Amino acid sequence: MPVLNKPRVYLETYGCQMNFADSELVAAILEENLAEMTSDIAKADVILVNTCAIREHASQRVMQQLHRYQQQKLQRPEVVIGVLGCMSSHLKEEISQERPWVDLVVGPDSYRQLPQLITARRAELPTSVVTGLDRYETYEQIFPRRDAGVNAWVTITRGCDNFCSYCVVPFARGRERSRPLSAIQAEMEQVVREGFREVTLLGQNVNSWREGDNRFPELLEAVTQVAGIERIRFISPHPRDFSQRLLEVIRDIPQVMNHIHLPLQSGSDPVLERMNRGYTASGFIELAQRARATVSELAISTDIIVGFCGESEADFEATLALVREVEFDSAFTFKYSERSGTIAAREYEDDVPAVIKGARLDQLMELQNGITRRRNSACIGREFAVMAEGPSRKLATEWMGRTGCNRIVVFPFQAGLLPGRVLPVRIEELSGFTLRGNVTQK
Ligand code: 5AD
Ligand code: SF4
Repeated sequence: MPVLNKPRVYLETYGCQMNFADSELVAAILEENLAEMTSDIAKADVILVNTCAIREHASQRVMQQLHRYQQQKLQRPEVVIGVLGCMSSHLKEEISQERPWVDLVVGPDSYRQLPQLITARRAELPTSVVTGLDRYETYEQIFPRRDAGVNAWVTITRGCDNFCSYCVVPFARGRERSRPLSAIQAEMEQVVREGFREVTLLGQNVNSWREGDNRFPELLEAVTQVAGIERIRFISPHPRDFSQRLLEVIRDIPQVMNHIHLPLQSGSDPVLERMNRGYTASGFIELAQRARATVSELAISTDIIVGFCGESEADFEATLALVREVEFDSAFTFKYSERSGTIAAREYEDDVPAVIKGARLDQLMELQNGITRRRNSACIGREFAVMAEGPSRKLATEWMGRTGCNRIVVFPFQAGLLPGRVLPVRIEELSGFTLRGNVTQK
């Protein structure tokens, strides 16, 4: 067997925060096992891509990247190329048949095996495809390797058991499992030692976390005991599992921020039914109103899909009406994208023409942008506690930070300011979607 140097690993990530958190886990596993991470693809001995399968567009971007990696392989045949994450189980056959230059395909529950798989492949052993899902893997004892920052993402559940009919996640990431409270607390203590001030708890269905009799509200109460965490957020909860008790915990615990992401998906009952969401439009409206009545100054963001199978003009109008009624603070909007293997792909026809999906998306975005602007303008003249994050993207003399309700605020830099500091900022104006303000106290 040839003697090998310590491999340099280049890792690129696509998709949601869950995937970025997984990449931090992968980096920790690799570094603990004598690899070294690099941001320079040309110097990498191993090129890994953590993939997203949620929509066709995401998958296509990954495919384009794979061709870029193929170029590296043509120049340096010894480079190991690996596909990780949500596309792996879908891609396993296609990759071995159509992209023979891919050396490894490793699913989200098999990252502990990566060091051995890489070593074996570098020693010219055969290609490996490891995509089995493991209903117990929570990567309990591994502390992710994070870059410095203000907010640390801490995974508390993996996988999903909801089987929304459009969604590939239950197939790509497997059954839902909760990480033990002790592991979550230990990780939070670690992130405080690393200098983080804010934690966002992560899960595909974050509010269905459980351990024995403890549910998500008890978890929130427990993690606020970790000294040094000033702000706690969580994504993404499912409206069906959003209890009144959880709203009260958000109201009563000062560290839990006054923002919730509450994915709606559609405002039409027949569409919600076909999506298997487990709530009705009126149930969602009631929850959103109760949430705002319970937690003062609560911001609510959402996800909405347009053009799902069988969505009529009247169904779409119902979504617009709900958006007008609830007035979300912001929304992520998507065109339905059929994913093979999902319930919708098997049972319903993707029958809304692409042009109609596009027109509905435009109409929805226009409506929501107006609402977002109006709700942001209502912040002008008011003071917010803003956690400073770092220089703004445009000007070195300006910094950006976030309010408790997750609005981005830009303000003039002050000497001695460090990331993580919470400052009182008075909002002066709205430019585009960005709030600008001044610090009111030195
Ligand atoms: N097509 C379009 N959007 C989707 N989402 C999930 N699956 C699909 C799909 N097949 C959206 C949902 C979800 C967000 C993360 O992505 O709105 O909340
Ligand atoms: Fe995240 Fe879902 Fe995309 Fe996987 S498929 S990366 S879980 S958004």
